[in-house]
Formats: sequence, C-alpha cells, structure tokens
Amino acid sequence: MSIVYDEAQRLFTLHTEQSTYQMKVDAFGFLLHLYYGRRTAGNMDYLLTYADRGFSGNPYDAGIDRTYSMDALPQELPCHGTGDYRSPAIAVKNADGSYGCDFRYHGYKISKGKYGIEGLPAVYAEEDEAETLEIYMEDSVSHIQVTLLYGVLPAYDVITRSARIKNAGTEKVYLKKAQAVCLDWVCGEYDLISFYGRHAMERSMQRTPVSHGAHVIGSRRGTSSHQYNPMMILAEKEATEDAGSCYAMSFVYSGSFKGEVERDQYNQTRALLGLSDELFSYPLAAGGVFRVPEVVMTYSSAGIAKLSQNLHRCFRMRLCRGKYRDCVRPVLLNSWEASYFDFNGESIAKLAEQAAELGIEMLVLDDGWFGKRDDDNSGLGDWYVNEDKLGEPLGALIGKINAAGLKFGIWFEPEAVSEDSELFRAHPDWALTIPGRRPVRSRNQLVLDLSRKEVVDYLFEAMCGVLEQGNIEYVKWDMNRSLADCFSLSADDQGRVLYDYVIGLYDLLERLLRRYPNILFEGCSGGGGRFDAGMLYYTPQIWCSDNSDARDRLDIQYGTSFGYPVSAVGSHVSAVPNHQNGRVTPLRTRAVTAMAGTFGYELDPQKLSAEEKQEIKNQIKEYKKYAPLIQNGLYYRLTNPFSQEVCAWEMVSEDLSEFLVSAVMLEVHGNMTVQYIRLKGLERNCLYQEEESGKVYASDALMETGIPLPVEMGQYQAYQMYFHKINSSL
Ligand code: GLA
Repeated sequence: MSIVYDEAQRLFTLHTEQSTYQMKVDAFGFLLHLYYGRRTAGNMDYLLTYADRGFSGNPYDAGIDRTYSMDALPQELPCHGTGDYRSPAIAVKNADGSYGCDFRYHGYKISKGKYGIEGLPAVYAEEDEAETLEIYMEDSVSHIQVTLLYGVLPAYDVITRSARIKNAGTEKVYLKKAQAVCLDWVCGEYDLISFYGRHAMERSMQRTPVSHGAHVIGSRRGTSSHQYNPMMILAEKEATEDAGSCYAMSFVYSGSFKGEVERDQYNQTRALLGLSDELFSYPLAAGGVFRVPEVVMTYSSAGIAKLSQNLHRCFRMRLCRGKYRDCVRPVLLNSWEASYFDFNGESIAKLAEQAAELGIEMLVLDDGWFGKRDDDNSGLGDWYVNEDKLGEPLGALIGKINAAGLKFGIWFEPEAVSEDSELFRAHPDWALTIPGRRPVRSRNQLVLDLSRKEVVDYLFEAMCGVLEQGNIEYVKWDMNRSLADCFSLSADDQGRVLYDYVIGLYDLLERLLRRYPNILFEGCSGGGGRFDAGMLYYTPQIWCSDNSDARDRLDIQYGTSFGYPVSAVGSHVSAVPNHQNGRVTPLRTRAVTAMAGTFGYELDPQKLSAEEKQEIKNQIKEYKKYAPLIQNGLYYRLTNPFSQEVCAWEMVSEDLSEFLVSAVMLEVHGNMTVQYIRLKGLERNCLYQEEESGKVYASDALMETGIPLPVEMGQYQAYQMYFHKINSSL
C-alpha cells in the first residue's frame, strides 16, 4: 500500500520507493502538510510548532489560543480568509463580491490506479502501479468543494497533484487563482533552479538562493513559452548533481502558468506551481466544475541527476503515449533549412531520393505546401494542398517518397491564421481580437480562437482532409507566436479564454491522435516555445529549438535535460555556416550533439561533398546502433557547459552493462591542458571495454579520476565513446 490513512491520528502518508509525503487533518479540519523527503516511517507532526506571534492572526475556532496561526503552519491548500498572508494556492471571488475562503476537511477516498483528468493531459499508470488519494475539502459558506487529487507511482518515485473545484452553492463565483501544488517546508535553506530563455536560446539554467521576497517565474503568453519553462527544482543549498536533497515540480500544462517561491517571515519556504492568475478569472456557475491541471513531483536524496532521471522515466513511459512511445524514432530530413518556402513537388522528391541514399528514413515537408504560402505573410488557416506549387497532388508526391523508401511527414500550424487567407476573409471573428481594438501582430499572423468549438471542428476536418490524401506518418505541429487580444465572441466571461483555449487545443490533438494512432506527432513552437509536460502527452517529441547550431544546442539541451527525457528532444544536424548564428562547427560535432535527441537532418544533401555524404551515412549507422541506449538509458550530465571548457554527457543502460559518453570541447588554446571526464553511475568494481580502441578500464577509476580526452586541433572537437562491461574480474 503506497497510501496509508491512520484514522486515529488523521494522518495521510504517501510512500514511493524512495520518498515519503505526509499530511494531517488537524483538530479544526485544516489540512496541514507535515513532510516530503527521504522515505521514512512514523508520525512527523512533531515538526509543527506553535507560538504566540504578533500580526499572525488566529482562526476563530482556535478560541483564545493565540499560538495557532495559519500564517505559520505548513498547508496543502492555503487560501486567503484563514489568516495566512503568504501566497495562496486558491482564490475565489464569491457571489457577494467578497474573497473570503476557508477550506476544511470533509473526507477522503483511496483507490487503485492513477486518476485521469477529463480534457487535460496527465500521467497514467497500470492499475497495480499506482494509487490515488482524493481529499475532499469544502468552504461551508460558499459551498465551493475542492477535491485534492494525489497520484502515487511508487516505482517511478513520483507523486502527482491536481484538484477538482466544484461550485456546490447556488450562485456564480469566480475562480481567481488555482495552483496545482503548494509545498511548504518548515525549515531549511533552498536554492531555486529554474529555466529561462528566449526564442532560439531556450532553457538556460539559473540557480538562485530562495530568499525573503518572492521569486516568480511564469508565462502570460497563453503558451508555456520560451521565456520560462513550467518546471522548478528546489534544491538544498549543498545539493549537487550527485548528492543532496532536491525536489522537482513540473506542470503538465501548455498555457500560461505561474511558479512562486518565497522564504517567509519565519524562514519557512513555500513553493507554488499552477495556472497564471493574470488574465484569469474563471466563472463557475452553480454546479460548475473546474479542473486544475496536474503537477508531477519527484524527490531525490541523491542529487539532481537522480531527480532528472525520475522525471525522464516517468515522462517517457507514463506520460508520452502511442505507437512511438517505446520505439526508436525514424531518422528524418526536414525540408525547412534545406529550402524554406522555395520548393515544388519535384525538388521535394529529389530531396527524398538524396536522403534515401544517405540512409535517412523519413522526409518531412515543412511550411509552404498549402494555401497561398510563399513566405510567412499569408496562407495560414487555408489547410488545403497548393497543387499548383507542388505541381501534383500530395498523394502522388507521397507515393514517390514512399517509393524511394522513405516515410512522409508534414508540417501544420493549426492554431494560427494569416489575415491574408481565405479562412480569415470568411471568418474574421475566429481570430482572437478585441472588438474596437487593433490586434497585436506577430510574425504577421493572428491566433485562432480555439476556445470555440466550431473553430476546433473546422481545424479537425481541414487537417483530416489533408491527412487522408496519402500515407502520412508524421505531423510537425507548430505554433509561431504568443497569444494576445484574448477576447472570445462566444465566451460568457473573458477571464476563461486562455484556459479554454488550451482545453480546445488538447481536444483537437486528442481527436487527431484517436483518428490517426499511427501518426507520430512532433510538437514545436518556434522551436522550444511550448516544451512542456502537457504537450508530451500528445507529442512524444518536441523540436527543442529553432537554433540548430551545435554549440548553442549544447547549452539548450543541457538545460532541457533537467526536466525532459532525450526521447522528447527534437535535434537535427544542419548546414554550416549555421543559419541562426553563422557559426561553423565540424559535421561530427553536429551529429554528436544531435544524437542527444531524436536524431535527424535539416539540410540540402545536394550541397554536400562526397566525403560529407559518406560521413553522414556513417553517422546514421552509428546512431541506429546506439539509439535504444540513447533513448532508454539513464542520462547523466558530466559537466556544465556554462562554466566548463567541455560539455560532456553520458547514457548508461539501466542494467549498467553499457554506456555511451559524448563530449564536445568548448575551448581551444595553444598547448592545451588535458580534459579528464569523470564518468558517473557505472557498476562499481568491474571492467568496461571501450569499443573503438579495445582498451579496458576499471569502472571505479573512470568514476574517480575520469578518462582523458585526446587533444586535437580545431574548434569544437567532438568525442563519442561506447563502453560495455566485460566479464573478466579485476
Ligand atoms: C517555426 C519552426 C521551424 C519551421 C518554421 C516554418 O519557426 O520552429 O522549424 O517549421 O516555423 O515556418
């Protein structure tokens, strides 16, 4: 039993293999948080302390006991109205205009399996792999009922949290804030690790001490954004990659979000993660139900590497779905950087033939094949094939590509609309715009109002119309701007539009996934602008960044690796000088870097020399050989590219019998000093043989002192070494 309720002490204890989470219903019915950390037994309510503290008010129920204050006690569902002045997890505007709110315990239910959330992505599990705890909380005045949902997946060391909010009263109320998780620590000093960035430079890691004064990350863009990723790590000050306590929280949602961390007046820490409360005011009529998207939490007492590995496993195996979840993905060639908008059927077929010769397995036709679309100023929304441009029906082109031995994939940007399109001319009100105001343009396009069912229906039909035209085995789902002008003609209240938009997006994705279970969907939003756990439920891989330069990718992929598995990271080899920053890196370096992801190419093979073609053939063979290890292995960051001269990482098979080490030199100097890369996570006291040299190494020495990288001339030299365990003893 992973969830235990002790009736006498009104204590809920949640166990995963290596962690324990505990909470308690107190004498007044408040749900107090007691403990989250290394697995333990016992009752941890001794951690609660009580003192008469000025300006920390007391609930009426406490009578004249001035030591009982919600302003100091750790809680599961803090709200305004009980005397807690810290940031709340939930805020409600009542029918009388007041914000009073006070949730008390009303019962619980424990069931086998993991809960799902209607209309929203969520971690799933086999019936015997997980348990669900529902805790019922209610405000006795407004009759708002909150069901707190806890999913426990012991073998994954994961606990998920979500909530269902029901208006069981008789009048309409407004939900003003809804966070999926609140974690309170009564003591300790923590660092917040978060991931910031911008278009083409996503997920830079930042580690800052949690201090007095809230640290807030989030997005008000309607998508999870390039600027902040919806995931946070709280690490004890001393925690490193390999040691120490740390916690991760990842929001399974693709829209606006907010993450807050603050050290309070009593040096306690509170972390919250959930929906953004800006541009949010969700109407809840009598009987209405609101579903808060979930947060995945994991704890590691063994440092941040383990924390990442927990998330990787959970997302790879219990969040991603579909035929491709466990498969090595096809090596693809994407047409974007090869020809941008400048192509026709003949040139694409030629690209496919050339790709086939190199061993590439799929050709993806990117932007420009539909409507009037020869640049990025028109055509979005007109999802019908431009046969004049292709010079043939899509089905005929796909036939040729399949005949060349390649699968075929295609690009869509379903959520966007160009003002210069037939769709916009027919339905100008389908774009998000505020009546009487001129909308914000971005990439000269607007966003369709996916909170409206008829818009989602149109997109579904239009996309099916294309997907029926041939053997399409992959869809790249792009979204190239942030939302603005959030006004929906069909909404009763505008404070719901951003949330309903995401629900509409998920509905469209779900309908397409059901209709086309064999299509591999890859997410994209100007690269990694919507790289989140919510999208992974629908698209098991996401184009990691529009920046395909290998050097920048090392930083971007380093940051991404904290929260997301390699199997989710779309990564391609592109031409040099790189199209985003003009940098020249060796072909080998580009391949080694792209192999830390779903491998592919984004270039025109016709422009390659014979030697380069041969090198690419070898790269593909090499990738195919290591792909299962790359996709399923335990991922270790061996260095930090932001502060070290080399970027190195490692994938170790779960049984520790083999591993792959990759490294790229970031600096080159005269009379170079040698870089020793210390390996991690190997079996102790055994021997591993490196494949290419045949040399045998003692595992402990590899982990204690490391392996020296050969010194080579030239910038950004890359190394890849494969080792397997040998049976002879030391
Ligand atoms: C976005 C994507 C690119 C490409 C273009 C096409 O920028 O991230 O990969 O598909 O759109 O317009």
